Amino acid sequence: MIEFPKDFLWGAATSAYQVEGENSNSDWWEWEKRGRGKEPSGQACRHYELYKEDFDLAKSLNHNTHRLSVEWSRIEPQEGVFSDKELAHYQQVLTALRERNLKPLVTLHHFTNPVWFSRIGGWENKRSIDYFLRYTKRVVEALGNQVEYWMTINEPLVYAYHAYILGVWPPEKKSVFAARRVSRNLARSHIASYRLIHRFYKDKGYPAPKVSIAKNMQAFVACQDTLRNRLAVGLRDRGFNFDFLNCLARNRSLDYIGVNYYSRNLVEALNWGVRSLCVDTCQKNHRPLKKNSLGWDIYPEGLYQLLVKLKRYNLPIIVSENGICTEDDELRWEYISSHLLAIHRAMQEGSQVKGYLYWSLLDNYEWDKGFTPRFGLVEVDYNSFTRRTRESARKFAQVCKSARLDNGIH
Ligand code: FCB
Repeated sequence: MIEFPKDFLWGAATSAYQVEGENSNSDWWEWEKRGRGKEPSGQACRHYELYKEDFDLAKSLNHNTHRLSVEWSRIEPQEGVFSDKELAHYQQVLTALRERNLKPLVTLHHFTNPVWFSRIGGWENKRSIDYFLRYTKRVVEALGNQVEYWMTINEPLVYAYHAYILGVWPPEKKSVFAARRVSRNLARSHIASYRLIHRFYKDKGYPAPKVSIAKNMQAFVACQDTLRNRLAVGLRDRGFNFDFLNCLARNRSLDYIGVNYYSRNLVEALNWGVRSLCVDTCQKNHRPLKKNSLGWDIYPEGLYQLLVKLKRYNLPIIVSENGICTEDDELRWEYISSHLLAIHRAMQEGSQVKGYLYWSLLDNYEWDKGFTPRFGLVEVDYNSFTRRTRESARKFAQVCKSARLDNGIH
């Protein structure tokens, strides 16, 4: 049996666009309307209306924390025009969480932008920093008295990579230069927003907030132990996992680190070219592992290793996403429990992990992959919008309640 601290944060995460439905002022919605992506998000999970029922479920599963995002395109549907109605909606959402003793972690930006913002160049535009800051200010004024934990931006590099290098998300660009501009503006926006939130809380006399980003981290593993692969692993680990965090840490803009971890990247660089060193992966399924339904390797060891490496920042850590899409619910529990063991092992070695949020509370709209991947603790029927709690969710609920997990050793 292993034990987690009594005040550990337990829960699950969602993002507005993936669960709410009908986010019709968003760039992603416009993109779907042009027939892009696998299928349109439509009503998604109808969480915009059903949030109380969904939070009842989270409560019944013994969660004490819930990560959600607010949708910029609802709050500021036109440039400079803020919707009091939508801000009031999110106030009610936070009240509903408080009534159920669920501590909120609020993300300000989770991949989607207002249409007006994307029309003026989105995150490539230098002024994106000012726009994001103005939006942050309005949200913090409206919700600040109900929130201790903020995440400004979800997975900035994942966003920049998919939208500006791979070109599979709006605005479908394929330019390393654009991606660099975008990630720079995202970093600057975070730093400015971090300072604004802190200043606001100070002026109001509220207890200091805890502000971070959600950083996607991957375990880069060399398939064959060659010099070239070792070099590639080093480059990717630094470039993808640490450079962005280092920049934010240098600017003293992290109160904790949010880690989103899913899988490993099995590195097999085919030549010495930069492209190859940065992106090639082994296609031959050497060293096969169990996989999720999107084919991502299940590799809890990687989470352990990353958490140990993160000790260098000497900051608290929250695992702000970790989860599996699968049709095999037993595999889901195996995934959760093995990753919890990995976290616990890292904690034994001094990693300051304070919480674990499973991705996701509900099955939801998985971006360009549509509704097929099922990540939820709770299954959603997309015809009737009924919810059904999975067995893995009940097992996880036992851990949330007792803060204990059976590791087979008694
Ligand atoms: C993460 C995203 C989240 C979800 C999961 C599966 O990269 O933050 O929205 O799509 O992957």
